Amino acid sequence: MKVRFRSDNPTETLELGRRLGRFLLGGDVVLLKGDLGAGKTALAQGIGQWLGVTEGLTSPTFTLIQEYPVRKGQLTLVHMDLYRLRHPEEAEVIGVEDHFQQDKICVIEWPEVAAELLPDDALVVELKGSGDEPRRIIMNSSDSGWAERLNTFAEPSVGLMPSKQQYLGGYDEIPHS
Ligand SMILES: Nc1ncnc2c1ncn2[C@@H]1O[C@H](COP(=O)(O)OP(=O)(O)OP(=O)(O)O)[C@@H](O)[C@H]1O
Ligand SMILES: [Mg+2]
Repeated sequence: MKVRFRSDNPTETLELGRRLGRFLLGGDVVLLKGDLGAGKTALAQGIGQWLGVTEGLTSPTFTLIQEYPVRKGQLTLVHMDLYRLRHPEEAEVIGVEDHFQQDKICVIEWPEVAAELLPDDALVVELKGSGDEPRRIIMNSSDSGWAERLNTFAEPSVGLMPSKQQYLGGYDEIPHS
């Protein structure tokens, strides 16, 4: 199950992140894929806002992994940006895997370098487009639990959806783009 969205500006991407945030549970891992400036951090900020992160969530520069206690400390939002890593071993050394725990929600930008460490049930979010172009945001998971959640997330009648215009529909196969 894949669901697709369109975002015409950073505010819409932030909003989509907030709406995704509602669906996140402890133990979830969200992978944010896309080119430089695609909007990965914007989406992560939206997730952080929904979870109640008050300090500005930015891309960690020196700390590749930033932790934010949320929900009165019952949960931790872990924001990783692995852009600077070159070798899979580095991801192991900095302890990426140690954060995949039930009391943590992990949101990972540039996750590719850590591919071997990532859980199969992660939600994959792909952001396409750059500059002032509208973004296409595609969410996908091979996990059946996520498929169900994505269905609900994308269900307009639930009222959690971004504007109808923003939702481009769900599909099981990738159409030719
Ligand atoms: N629809 C859109 N959604 C998100 N960002 C947009 C959109 N349109 C334009 N932008 C601009 O694109 C940039 C996205 O920046 P952001 O830091 O979120 O990207 P990123 O994918 O995290 O980049 P990096 O790979 O450097 O971490 C911002 O400057 C933002 O203003
Ligand atoms: Mg970023």
